[in-house]
Amino acid sequence: MRAIGIIASDSTENDARVILNEGEEKRVRAEDLVLVENRNEGKILAVLRRGLGSNENLKPGGYHPGVAYARIGGRPSMAKETYDFALSVIGETGEAIQQNKKILAPGSLVQIFEDNDDPMQYLARKKNGSTLGHYEGQCSWEVPVDCSFISYHLGIFASTGGGKSFLARHQMIPLLQKAGYSILVLDWKGRDYAPHYPKENVISISEIALDTETVAGYLVEKMKNFGYSAYSGGNVTQAVEEYIDGQKWRGLSLTEFRYVLEHSIVNELNPTQLKSGRAFEEEQRFKRGLRRLKDTDIQNILGTITVQDILNLVREKGILIVDMKRTGSDEKLSMFLTFANYIKELMQNDEDIDLALLIDEAPQYCPFRPGGIQEQTTDIIIDLCALGRTHKLSICLLSQGIAGEIGINAAVRRNLNTQFVGKIHPLDMNEASSWLSPFNIDAKFLLSLPPGHFFLMGSMNPSPIPLLLTFEIPPDGKHQ
Ligand SMILES: Nc1ncnc2c1ncn2[C@@H]1O[C@H](COP(=O)(O)OP(=O)(O)OP(=O)(O)O)[C@@H](O)[C@H]1O
Ligand SMILES: [Mg+2]
Repeated sequence: MRAIGIIASDSTENDARVILNEGEEKRVRAEDLVLVENRNEGKILAVLRRGLGSNENLKPGGYHPGVAYARIGGRPSMAKETYDFALSVIGETGEAIQQNKKILAPGSLVQIFEDNDDPMQYLARKKNGSTLGHYEGQCSWEVPVDCSFISYHLGIFASTGGGKSFLARHQMIPLLQKAGYSILVLDWKGRDYAPHYPKENVISISEIALDTETVAGYLVEKMKNFGYSAYSGGNVTQAVEEYIDGQKWRGLSLTEFRYVLEHSIVNELNPTQLKSGRAFEEEQRFKRGLRRLKDTDIQNILGTITVQDILNLVREKGILIVDMKRTGSDEKLSMFLTFANYIKELMQNDEDIDLALLIDEAPQYCPFRPGGIQEQTTDIIIDLCALGRTHKLSICLLSQGIAGEIGINAAVRRNLNTQFVGKIHPLDMNEASSWLSPFNIDAKFLLSLPPGHFFLMGSMNPSPIPLLLTFEIPPDGKHQ
């Protein structure tokens, strides 16, 4: 420990400023951890934030001798120069960290933790508990986290390139595994997770069997609704829906599917093979639609892995990545909906799930203003959050924005009890400010955070105030 200064006047039990000893301004940095030897008794753990340099001689907006020197390029006196930092109290040290209730006496000595000290010991609620990354600036200070709150859901927020997917891959997934969760990752772009895991841990979305309603809707849409204006259009749509509902097409190959679909529907619409009239027109309408249906569209619905299979696979392998590239948004969301409905039902039947569902690109599933199928996915995420708390299902959402147009739905956000906030988008300044300014963190500080730096706050944080953590990227970047 090294003494760096003393507590200034006007201190309270939560806030104070530290006047730095001469020369310490060159060494002490924002987010450094300190211990205050309170003259009113007790040792208080705190974080330094919002530094301030002041010099009586250099006050702008008035004419002083110091200002006069500066104006002609001279060197004004440094005699009245001071540096200070605001101090955000974490708590009083002891068996465990406790809320500090005594005023920090002005003049109390402030000491900084150096490389060999371990301030994290004060925060760890139990020995050998789980940790996540390390405190910013000190690789050996692993940040303890409270894993009992994993099923109270997590949110990881940072603008693009902020390091969300890296945090998830290198830190969250190993932590969740250690805590006994199986993990299903929904890899929206198929780029952030799928290429980094062994092949046996990755399945493609086209291998998954969608429910009949989704398949029928998808095919009809790809066949341009057979030229009908509204979706619940005429006979042709109905015939396709009924055929799909009959399930006879499951397990067919691509060419078989096309052949069987054509013959079944034509037979249904025009059984006596008339050459004119309504039946004939409907047959033509269907055939025009069928010509629009591409092989790749069909491929997307021929998957055979059921949602039950997915859950079994996740449990068997520990981690499963669903590679969602090369499909449209609606198909991705439909697949999610099918799976989400299934696990919701299991939880309603009082089954424990022991699963973490990691959803990258969360605004695609539960945006600020959901429309179309997103209304259903947003609602089901809220339901899963509510049920998950008691049935060991953890929802982990990654998003480029926090609130508003770029963020995630407010009702969903309220369910995420632990947050990681990295470099934010300027549009999120207001939201980040309301979260962080009570803790002396300037939202502007968040605009310039380097990739991979996150403020941890909420239930899993052992400290009542947010802590800045980061992590190293392993050289090979692969996962087991
Ligand atoms: N802990 C870290 N230390 C150093 N660099 C990092 C760290 N974490 C991430 N990065 C760098 O940041 C880059 C972007 O990270 P990542 O892909 O996780 O961002 P993202 O937030 O998921 O972005 P997007 O929203 O576009 O998916 C990485 O390629 C990596 O080089
Ligand atoms: Mg990403």
